[in-house]
Amino acid sequence: MRVSYADKVVVITGASSGIGKELAAQLAVQGARLVLADLQEGASVQQADGAPALFIRTDVSQQAGVRYLFDEVRRKGLRIDYFFSNAGISLPMNGASSEDDWTRMLSTNLMSHVRVGRCITELMATGSRPHLVITASASSFLSELTSIGYATTKYATFGYAEWMAFSYRKQGLKVSVACPEAVWTPLIDDIPYLQAGAISVQEAARQMLRGTLEDKFLITTHEGTVEKMQQKYADVDGYVRTIADFREDALRA
Ligand SMILES: NC(=O)c1ccc[n+]([C@@H]2O[C@H](COP(=O)([O-])OP(=O)(O)OC[C@H]3O[C@@H](n4cnc5c(N)ncnc54)[C@H](O)[C@@H]3O)[C@@H](O)[C@H]2O)c1
Repeated sequence: MRVSYADKVVVITGASSGIGKELAAQLAVQGARLVLADLQEGASVQQADGAPALFIRTDVSQQAGVRYLFDEVRRKGLRIDYFFSNAGISLPMNGASSEDDWTRMLSTNLMSHVRVGRCITELMATGSRPHLVITASASSFLSELTSIGYATTKYATFGYAEWMAFSYRKQGLKVSVACPEAVWTPLIDDIPYLQAGAISVQEAARQMLRGTLEDKFLITTHEGTVEKMQQKYADVDGYVRTIADFREDALRA
């Protein structure tokens, strides 16, 4: 039987903007039953059955916010089929950045996924097996030039997703990690060097939804991402030297 999102309960965090918003739009057309979560309310999304998607305002950087999201879903009597843990932020950061910046980045870009994963692991005890799709980034292996906090949290998120994927696979839990390169969203508004190679949110969301249905662990959205990763790991020392040169030019432009 062909797998599809029709009638599946799909939760998306960071659903009011960018990639999350577009995932919601495409999933609505494909007949999913949506639970949209974000700090800020976005435009209402109409599902294929005509009903508006459920919106839950919550802060997934906090344990209480993630717990609230799962509790609300349970209270509505919904059983989650797919969970897109997608919310993320970027702050310009360097080696001198403050504790506050690090705390914000770690709690949003890493701990949100850890807290979602904890709730999903607990749900497994009830027989539930939601497919967890974590939005990391190609920065998870290629790094990023303007934010040490972004680069570090995305590397860590990839490690977290990989561990969850191999440790729970035999128990039937599917885990995917989405690793887009640049995508046109407000996140890259202030990062000009990323804009040249940016793809549309529509294309990024299409690749993420397709990769998830194909049960891929690593989902990329741009041609050549895997080749770039392979080249880097074939010569990590060379990569660091090349990026040091490239960085000067890229940030000057
Ligand atoms: N845009 C890119 O080039 C790009 C590339 C690779 C990965 N990503 C990743 O994709 C994901 C989505 O980013 P985007 O580009 O769509 O950004 P975006 O800024 O357009 O959307 C992010 C959404 O997440 C929400 N959010 C932020 N913190 C939250 C919190 N604590 N609780 C709940 N919601 C919160 C925001 O309100 C916003 O609606 C992020 O994880 C980002 O790191 C983006």
